[in-house]
Amino acid sequence: MKNLTVVLFFVGSHIAVPCHAGASDGGAATYRMVCASCHEVAAVGAPGLDDRAEWRYRLAQGMDKLYASVREGRCTVYVKELRKDLSDDVIRMAIDYMVSEIR
Ligand code: HEC
Repeated sequence: MKNLTVVLFFVGSHIAVPCHAGASDGGAATYRMVCASCHEVAAVGAPGLDDRAEWRYRLAQGMDKLYASVREGRCTVYVKELRKDLSDDVIRMAIDYMVSEIR
């Protein structure tokens, strides 16, 4: 559990800035403010957006599976615990944005 503490500290220090991620930004702002701290640089085992091979098999599950696994998986544990203000819809839009940015 020591690793989790480090991760939570890491994330907390990145996303504790005031921001206004909301339903109107199409997911991009949410991604930048909440998700990028792990996914842009592939931190703590998160698939980075520059890792096409990693995403290929995740995307092969289909988007519905992806939405569902993010709601239940390791990723969401962090996101939901630290950002309880984010609705499922907002997270879904951030996922759509992420998928469109995979390179
Ligand atoms: C604390 C770091 C962290 C943050 C912040 C984070 N993620 Fe993740 N994410 C992860 C990790 C770790 C995994 C890999 C989980 C696994 O493979 O079990 C992951 C996996 C994913 C996946 C792939 C799920 C799958 O089934 O393959 C998606 C999509 C995703 N994250 C979206 C997001 C979105 C959208 C946000 C912002 C709202 C976000 N993540 C924020 C750590 C994070």
